[in-house]
Amino acid sequence: MSAKENWPSQKITPDDLLKMAREAARRSYAPYSRFHVGAAMLFEGDEVIQSCNVENASYGITICAERSGVVIMVSQGKRKPLAIAVAGSHEDRDDYMTLACPPCGACRQTLMEFNPDILVVMASKDGAKVWELRKLLPHSFTLDPD
Ligand code: THU
Repeated sequence: MSAKENWPSQKITPDDLLKMAREAARRSYAPYSRFHVGAAMLFEGDEVIQSCNVENASYGITICAERSGVVIMVSQGKRKPLAIAVAGSHEDRDDYMTLACPPCGACRQTLMEFNPDILVVMASKDGAKVWELRKLLPHSFTLDPD
């Protein structure tokens, strides 16, 4: 079955979720890289949490949009995101909705912690594309390998 057939909502489409990620990217705080990233995480009951990257003058403590979403999610008492859309681009460009913004390795591992079956939505020239995190991060770290 393709990732799109496993989509967990009747109400919110992958394109809808990607639009919400793009909207969140507009709120990004990225004065150093000028690369604005937004994420939108979908939960049971069609609830959505939006988040963005937050940079710092001490560059290394910057937090990515996806991981800032996980911080919000856990703080709000949620533990199981069903899907996440990520949209991002440099502020000089105008291609948020056609160019994929793939989650970095650290964010993939962080999402894996909460739902190995999560679906990841990224832009493409043909609209929103749905991926399985398992396939984006094969053989991820675990304390309990089999
Ligand atoms: N960034 C994210 O928000 N998510 C990722 O998965 C990778 C990168 C942010 C971090 C930084 O603020 C900017 O993109 C450029 O690296």
